Amino acid sequence: MSSNSLITLITGGNSGIGKCLAGLLVEDANRHVIITSRSVDKGNAAVKEIEALSHPGKIEMMQLDLTRPESITKLAKDVERKYGRLDALVNNAAIGDFPEGISLSDRMQESYRTNVTGPLLMLEAFWPLLMKSQTTPRVINHSSGAGSLTVVNNMQDWPHGEVPIPYFCSKAGLNMVSASWILAHKKDDYKLFTYCPGFTESNLGPHNNQASGAQPVEKGARPMVAILNGDKDAEHGKFLNHQGGQHPW
Ligand SMILES: NC(=O)c1ccc[n+]([C@@H]2O[C@H](COP(=O)([O-])OP(=O)(O)OC[C@H]3O[C@@H](n4cnc5c(N)ncnc54)[C@H](OP(=O)(O)O)[C@@H]3O)[C@@H](O)[C@H]2O)c1
Repeated sequence: MSSNSLITLITGGNSGIGKCLAGLLVEDANRHVIITSRSVDKGNAAVKEIEALSHPGKIEMMQLDLTRPESITKLAKDVERKYGRLDALVNNAAIGDFPEGISLSDRMQESYRTNVTGPLLMLEAFWPLLMKSQTTPRVINHSSGAGSLTVVNNMQDWPHGEVPIPYFCSKAGLNMVSASWILAHKKDDYKLFTYCPGFTESNLGPHNNQASGAQPVEKGARPMVAILNGDKDAEHGKFLNHQGGQHPW
């Protein structure tokens, strides 16, 4: 790895938008992308798929279960030991769908552990490494318009069956992680963005497919490449959408 490589960590990079983003980032020879995966097998399969694209950037996989704080701590220690810094963090992993029969209480707690507490603990664990970046460190918290009070208040209906209330609540929680983290870190030099990819093909839920009107995965992932390259630095702290604009909070 060249010392100029931009080390970029994407949680939940074995699937959907995170995997696509990893493949797009390694088009750049200067990117060294670490994808994380709960399942080592799924993570290794994703690495093989991305390596088969024959792009010049580097890809590797490390294991992470966001619902286990000790897994987050171990990952941060491993990255520190190997690279001593991190240049960009994409808090991408999330849970949006549950098998039949899981109680509302369990769906709510699991959604918060994965989609709110996990990304916050990632920020805490990786902040010292991000602050060691020789460039402007960048963070994307991967949220959703479904976490915007304004967007949800203006929805006429929800076209995909039962409204996934725990998911909506958790994304509103993630939006506050972004806002309060920025308030708490006014003195540090970095850029942090909250991002919504739009309705996109992935494994998030049973409706994230073309037949239900979801856009191709690259449309949701590609705008994050520009964000990570610094094109949106003037919009630090904002809730960006995939069309180049901003979402209301
Ligand atoms: N697709 C959309 O329409 C849409 C719209 C708005 C926002 N988003 C956001 O986009 C991001 C990416 O989602 P996606 O649509 O690409 O869905 P996806 O294909 O389901 O990817 C989600 C990833 O998160 C991982 N994950 C789930 N729970 C985890 C845990 N406890 N620990 C570590 N990793 C975990 C999954 O791993 P496993 O494979 O092990 O489950 C998977 O790699 C999410 O933040 C989502 O909320 C998506």
